[in-house]
Amino acid sequence: MKGATTNICYNVLDRNVHEKKLGDKVAFYWEGNEPEETTQITYRELLVKVCQFSNVLRKQGIRKGDRVAIYMPMIPELVVAMLSCARLGALHSIVFAGFSAESLCERILDSSCSLLITTDAFYRGEKLVNLKMLADEALEKCREKGFPVRRCIVVKHLGRAELGMGDSPSQSPPVKRSCPDVQISWNQGVDLWWHELVQEAGDECEPEWCDAEDPLFILYTSGSTGKPKGVVHTTGGYMLYVATTFKYVFDFHSEDVFWCTADIGWITGHSYITYGPLANGATSVLFEGIPTYPDVGRLWNIVDKYKVTKFYTAPTAIRLLMKFGDEPVTKHSRASLQVLGTVGEPINPEAWLWYHRVVGSERCSIVDTFWQTETGGHMLTPLPGATPMKPGSATFPFFGVAPAILNESGEELEGEAEGYLVFKQPWPGIMRTVYGNHGRFETTYFKKFPGYYVTGDGCRRDQDGYYWITGRIDDMLNVSGHLLSTAEVESALVEHEAVAEAAVVGHPHPVKGECLYCFVTLCDGHTFSPTLKEELKKQIREKIGPIATPDYIQNAPGLPKTRSGKIMRRVLRKIAQNDHDLGDTSTVADPSVISHLFSHRCLVTQ
Ligand code: WTA
Repeated sequence: MKGATTNICYNVLDRNVHEKKLGDKVAFYWEGNEPEETTQITYRELLVKVCQFSNVLRKQGIRKGDRVAIYMPMIPELVVAMLSCARLGALHSIVFAGFSAESLCERILDSSCSLLITTDAFYRGEKLVNLKMLADEALEKCREKGFPVRRCIVVKHLGRAELGMGDSPSQSPPVKRSCPDVQISWNQGVDLWWHELVQEAGDECEPEWCDAEDPLFILYTSGSTGKPKGVVHTTGGYMLYVATTFKYVFDFHSEDVFWCTADIGWITGHSYITYGPLANGATSVLFEGIPTYPDVGRLWNIVDKYKVTKFYTAPTAIRLLMKFGDEPVTKHSRASLQVLGTVGEPINPEAWLWYHRVVGSERCSIVDTFWQTETGGHMLTPLPGATPMKPGSATFPFFGVAPAILNESGEELEGEAEGYLVFKQPWPGIMRTVYGNHGRFETTYFKKFPGYYVTGDGCRRDQDGYYWITGRIDDMLNVSGHLLSTAEVESALVEHEAVAEAAVVGHPHPVKGECLYCFVTLCDGHTFSPTLKEELKKQIREKIGPIATPDYIQNAPGLPKTRSGKIMRRVLRKIAQNDHDLGDTSTVADPSVISHLFSHRCLVTQ
């Protein structure tokens, strides 16, 4: 209805509490990094916390349309923060806590966020991450660039025990690990403690009523030019799409316990930890830790602890755990499991079969869901129990999704075919724009093949009509299910004074799927050494984040280029793999470069 208004926070909380009478139902079982750090939060408690924090944000001047940056680990306050923004019609821009200060700064500036919400520190497995320090660095960089962020709200997470309070009104035990070695610096006039602000805030907060097309959030994803794109999703279509896909793809029933292991810093967490499950009144697990801590049976321990029925993870996690054999899995019951999902990259049949045979004891449906930050929710996916599965295929389109496979000249291919995967008609969850750059939205997704949405993925359709994603066909890499652009890694490398030029390609990796293989040409007067390699890795970690750390760095006195000076990445990929079948190299300006690179390949990861 034209002119109607809504609010997604109202729909996922107030409506569940007041109309559907789900107030006492658990919204989240929170499981901390340490197995004994747990708490739970009901729909009613979540609503109260969100109202309180919405009032805090309102008092800090946040209004509809404002942008709020969130840089937090997987703790309940992260969900509270994002829903509070949604309640006020403010756009949240969540930056994964594994990104560097520099990446956070870049994202804050791109969407001019006036407020940042962060956390003192957290543990990821054994590793302590001093998040406040990174946030401070990011804010300092913003100030240097003439953009002072007004406020920084800090959750006391590791220091929670000192407060002598549990996390939720259900009074969880205080976190065990206190954190004596974390030094928090405090910027008077900017920093505010979350717990102090909410103490004074009221429990009720009228939502801001929004148009269906009002923006809901911004989430940055790598772009092939190197500069991340602020993908914008809107209220109505996104809400409908994540609610519906969650319901059908995971065959949701009210008694389910759903667990998506993704981080909320990625789209999978936005859609299938926060919005999709809550829209359905589901109970979910929210997990702060990692699959290998304190041991490699952690995931299955959690599955049994909460009787998880539907489980959603990434192929990289499956491959990682496969390495440790069946026993860490089979020693846990897993009897509650019914549906197993995967997302993020093509799943190799070997991992699929292990997931099905060992994790699912051959009883569970596997849903291999293909989708993107841009699509908001699932696009190609089986429906559990209804779609005959083929290991490694995302099978068929979801309701209302119209895929096509095009050849290089943009013709639609029928029947068995391989080519560019595109979508022929819009669906409710499609992104609406790139924040602040609508032209980039049009060029990236609609220019190559006018009239179609271009995914950037290659795809094959078999004789039975099943779709098989073959991977990215642009300059993007998929490392452990995270997209990176070769350009962003290359620009981080060339910012080092010793590097004149760099070219980065994807290289097969048994756990990560793909890893980074970098070729660097040094400036005169610099020598290639183990110290330099370490410096370059550090540089990438600082500019982008640990996910972009390369596995290989090779000294390249020259790079294969076309006569017009374009680096031939196709050739570099083959060199990295020691594949001498290079195809046509007649366009290479200086062929001697190739044999030199072959004979100096990196043989081991560094
Ligand atoms: C890849 C993650 C094969 C693909 C939700 C896509 C997949 C990119 C699958 C989007 C899958 C995601 N099978 N490939 N089931 N799921 N991909 O934006 O290359 O982080 O374009 O969204 O991941 O990654 P993004």
